[in-house]
Amino acid sequence: MGASRQQSKLQEAKAELVSLLKVLSDKVDLERKLGVNYLQFDSVIKNTISYEENVISQLPTPEPVFDNVYNYNEVDKVEFSKSEKIAELNKLEEQVKRCTKCDLCKNRTNVVFGVGDPDADLMFVGEAPGYYEDEQGEPFVGKAGQLLTKIIESIGMKRGDVYIANILKCRPPENRNPNANEIVMCSPHLIRQIEIIRPKIICALGTFAAQTLLNSTESIGNLRGKFFEYQGAKFLATYHPAYLLRNPDDKKKVWADIKKVRDFLKENSS
Ligand code: URA
Repeated sequence: MGASRQQSKLQEAKAELVSLLKVLSDKVDLERKLGVNYLQFDSVIKNTISYEENVISQLPTPEPVFDNVYNYNEVDKVEFSKSEKIAELNKLEEQVKRCTKCDLCKNRTNVVFGVGDPDADLMFVGEAPGYYEDEQGEPFVGKAGQLLTKIIESIGMKRGDVYIANILKCRPPENRNPNANEIVMCSPHLIRQIEIIRPKIICALGTFAAQTLLNSTESIGNLRGKFFEYQGAKFLATYHPAYLLRNPDDKKKVWADIKKVRDFLKENSS
């Protein structure tokens, strides 16, 4: 191999290494923001996880890594009025529509940002858009979405009273599971939505939403039905409506979980 070919191979290898390190560093930074405790890495989930109890929260905040999407620190922890929430969400949506941080942008028909009351007390978080959501640009509009609407109505609320979003804003091909890179690249959008909306309670739907937000590898069967804390909100996971369509016997467990959400909201109404 000639010297210049060798040089260019070396440059390629260096570029690849730099890009791998960037993905790794983004992942670590994001996990820190999500509250991963690297000092006591422990997959045993306690019944209540509090940010304050987390050793990592005592460490200095890492520099934001998603500057070109938005800057975390710029507006961190600001409490918005309803009209400010609408403006902030619109601004974020415009940014997400331009997002090309992972390959899912290549095949999307629409970015599926989120829908509902920007001032909602209750926020649902699902996994990723499917075929109909990608077509219409709205989360949970297919069969699973119709079931979610019934679940919401079962506690005396309407779809428009809550906010609904997903971990991923673009549809994975053939509805495959989200991969780690997609989750790392896309979660900051959701984290920002939560920061703006500041719901009283977040209900995670299914394995991916629960595991991603709790940074856990526990099964949804173990995570569901218990209260956690997330970014100052209460957090409760339950089964995904798509799973319920295949396993209707578990509807009673979801009913038990959603009643806890209803009761929490009743006890904490202002
Ligand atoms: N499943 C999800 O997790 N989200 C949707 O928006 C639709 C189906």
